[in-house]
Amino acid sequence: MEERNTETKGRMRPAVIISSDADALAEQAAAEFLRLANDAISRRGVFLALLSGGSTPAGTYRLLATSDLDFGRAQFFIGDERDVPPESSASNYRFIREHLLSTERSRAGKLYRWLTEKSDRNKIAAKYESEIMAAASSADAAVDFNGLRVPRFDLILLGIGTDGHTASLFPKTEALHEARRLAVPNFVPQLKQWRFTVTFPLINNARDVLFLASGREKAGPVSRVIAGNADFTEIPASGVRPVRGNVIWFIDEGAASKIDEGVPTR
Ligand code: 6PG
Repeated sequence: MEERNTETKGRMRPAVIISSDADALAEQAAAEFLRLANDAISRRGVFLALLSGGSTPAGTYRLLATSDLDFGRAQFFIGDERDVPPESSASNYRFIREHLLSTERSRAGKLYRWLTEKSDRNKIAAKYESEIMAAASSADAAVDFNGLRVPRFDLILLGIGTDGHTASLFPKTEALHEARRLAVPNFVPQLKQWRFTVTFPLINNARDVLFLASGREKAGPVSRVIAGNADFTEIPASGVRPVRGNVIWFIDEGAASKIDEGVPTR
């Protein structure tokens, strides 16, 4: 395993870690997650993390649940949520609670959720945004960005869909263009569903963004984003470009199978 970050036009290219399979990917990602958590806690006394739903992070979360992460100093938020009750099998909150907060130790971590049982979607998103800002302010992790006060997460964990979506920022949906609100409802015509998602102003102020992707079906969008030549309205994950932060990709050989030879990987 080798890592190379190459500066290109003042922006760090993403680091790319290719693992032999999904289990190795989970181990690599959990190790980096823990390193960043320990660094944040030793420097600032708190770890502010935005977590991904979906299914890929399950192995990483299970490893973290039995790690020596100081969960009592961790504030966890969820990057996006489906328009379902918290006990639904489709709920990202339930997924994270069942995999990451699955031990007595890890349940010391505070996990904030979108209050999807409420009826007004804009109020759900506004409430969630205010909780994010309150946690960021008390952690002294709010920064100015284009005249806004935005949170600066220590770590943002993201997945990527086969269509290039990340969080619930889907191709050609309104939330892609949100420049002020940090958390919004987002109607996804291709799913005929409402979703809730954080927006690029929040994501792009993170210190570190970790993408997890596994399987050949992700190879297309993964290669497009890493190559840096995709349009974010077509491949929303390509809109993740932290203004003062790093991006690290944790992928397995299937998801790496279309990466151009020229892209440094490890
Ligand atoms: C969600 C996720 C979403 C996910 C991708 C990849 O609510 O589903 O937040 O952005 O990360 O769809 O999902 P898998 O990990 O299941 O492939």
